[in-house]
Amino acid sequence: MRSEMTQGADPAAAEELAGRLWSWSSRWHPGELAWLWRATGPGAAGWRTATWRAGGRTVAWARSTAPGRLDLQADTGHDGLVSAVLDWFEDGAAGHDLAVTVLDRESSLLEVLLSRGYSPDDDAPSFLHLRRRLAAASPPAPLPPGYVLRAVAGVQDGDARAGLHRAAFATPEPTAATYQAVMAHPSYRAALDRFVVAPDGTPAAAALGWLDERSGVLALEPVGTHPRFRRRGLARACVLAVLGAAVELGATHARVCARDGAADPAPRATYEAVGFRPYARNVRLVRPAR
Ligand SMILES: CC(C)(COP(=O)(O)OP(=O)(O)OC[C@H]1O[C@@H](n2cnc3c(N)ncnc32)[C@H](O)[C@@H]1OP(=O)(O)O)[C@@H](O)C(=O)NCCC(=O)NCCS
Repeated sequence: MRSEMTQGADPAAAEELAGRLWSWSSRWHPGELAWLWRATGPGAAGWRTATWRAGGRTVAWARSTAPGRLDLQADTGHDGLVSAVLDWFEDGAAGHDLAVTVLDRESSLLEVLLSRGYSPDDDAPSFLHLRRRLAAASPPAPLPPGYVLRAVAGVQDGDARAGLHRAAFATPEPTAATYQAVMAHPSYRAALDRFVVAPDGTPAAAALGWLDERSGVLALEPVGTHPRFRRRGLARACVLAVLGAAVELGATHARVCARDGAADPAPRATYEAVGFRPYARNVRLVRPAR
């Protein structure tokens, strides 16, 4: 079936596609896309994006957050679709070195990329996908004295959550308004948005989960602790609280992504400390400018 491309993103359609194609061989979980698209704030307007539709539904999307860089999802059951996405990407990146990131389990995508002259970049930062089963609610983790763990109660908490994220990740986004846009997403559940307040009132750590009801898989995105409050068990407490709430909502598995490597052992170690284990990793394929 022929697909039609339109320039521009359709985040809701991309999330629907991610939900429809979800498996442990997918790079994208719909909740993670919900976060990525909204939490970037106005910066997302600068991405080069396109959407492919066939038979009345979205079958692929692509985004280039910087010239020569590509993220994509495509229903590989459609002949020629991956090539169409790569044609669009390469046409818009003339003169640039090219880099495309995929999951190591996305074998059809990898095959097409290799056939077009891309090769794995062994120097790319390592980025793991980890998962765990959620058979039963975990017991809550203890907190240091005076720290309080809460669920987000409403938009009034948007400011605290946004500020905490900026402090944990040292990024200018999300602003309070951006975080409120995240909270307005139909899949956002305040019960899956937990944060810890320090004795002096500073929001100290948080974890947000996104439950894909179709698969029963919860994606954690994001998890962060304010630099002043690390190694006190706060991320562990937030994550376990979100996992416990997710079990009550019907989740059977959880999945999270984390940088890996000696330079920053904290994310992987944090998730492994609460039972996650690696099952896949991102690979970056590169092709020099022609
Ligand atoms: C990753 C992060 C959330 C951890 O937060 P935290 O509150 O310091 O983590 P916790 O204190 O709950 O740690 C729980 C366990 O994880 C492991 N861990 C956490 N940080 C670690 C580190 N730097 N080195 C080794 N192990 C670590 C330990 O096993 C720890 O238990 P222990 O202290 O009893 O040994 C925090 O470092 C952070 O916000 N980093 C920047 C944002 C980020 O990278 N987020 C993850 C996105 S993928």
